[in-house]
Amino acid sequence: MKNSNSADFDLDDKVFARMAESYDRLCDFFSLYTHRIWKNKLAKSIANTPGNNFLDIAAGTGDIALRVALRLKKNNDITFKKNIILGDICDQMLDIARRKADEKDIECNFCIIDAHNLKSIPSASIDVVSISFAMKICDRAQVLSAVHRVLKPGGKFFCLEASRIPYPWLQSLYLLYMGLCIPMIANRVTKGDRSAYNYLLKGINDFPDKSEFVKEIGTCGFKDVTATPLSLGIVALHVGIKDG
Ligand SMILES: C[S@@+](CC[C@H](N)C(=O)[O-])C[C@H]1O[C@@H](n2cnc3c(N)ncnc32)[C@H](O)[C@@H]1O
Repeated sequence: MKNSNSADFDLDDKVFARMAESYDRLCDFFSLYTHRIWKNKLAKSIANTPGNNFLDIAAGTGDIALRVALRLKKNNDITFKKNIILGDICDQMLDIARRKADEKDIECNFCIIDAHNLKSIPSASIDVVSISFAMKICDRAQVLSAVHRVLKPGGKFFCLEASRIPYPWLQSLYLLYMGLCIPMIANRVTKGDRSAYNYLLKGINDFPDKSEFVKEIGTCGFKDVTATPLSLGIVALHVGIKDG
């Protein structure tokens, strides 16, 4: 399996710490707000999955976990609400998530954790793990192995990620749009922080297409792996169940 962490930016340079305050705005600009639709879809699927312990890794500013928590709160599902964990390596991103959780009066657990090993999470302790728009910057094999370890047998894994649009002409058009717009917008929003948009561009080009990624997930001990293309395949939602 290809190591997807051969990034043309250096994670040690704290790109996410610098981007934290502008991250939500960047997502809105780049996706023309459609990331909200994708994230709502993921949150709905997670909220409908049975189980008490939900872990969102590389949770960033909390877009997935807080949506799940809000849904459960509306449904008065206090059991699940108590066991939502947001993990990320960047405290500045989690700070934004904490602030948003406070504003919405949502209780969650926050932890600094590396998605590559999920060290502080006991094995077979989690019902649902999700990762959204971060697999592309991680070593996929390591993340999948860590997720597999922490999930209970039968536990569910969700991955929302940029994908390859199956229509070549549209993919070219999309890459052109992203190639022109990202540098312009990111330059403005991040005040010329090149590594921020290097990261954002990398994700679009380097991720495997959905059937390749389905196979990868399957070889890491997950069964019934599916991939649902969203918005003409710009992104895909992958789901797998821990075998055994
Ligand atoms: C593009 S943001 C995605 C945030 C959120 N999941 C979303 O969908 O908006 C990527 C996040 O991954 C985090 N991250 C990067 N490498 C990580 C790692 N090895 N372990 C945990 N988090 C990581 C970054 O700090 C950042 O918050």
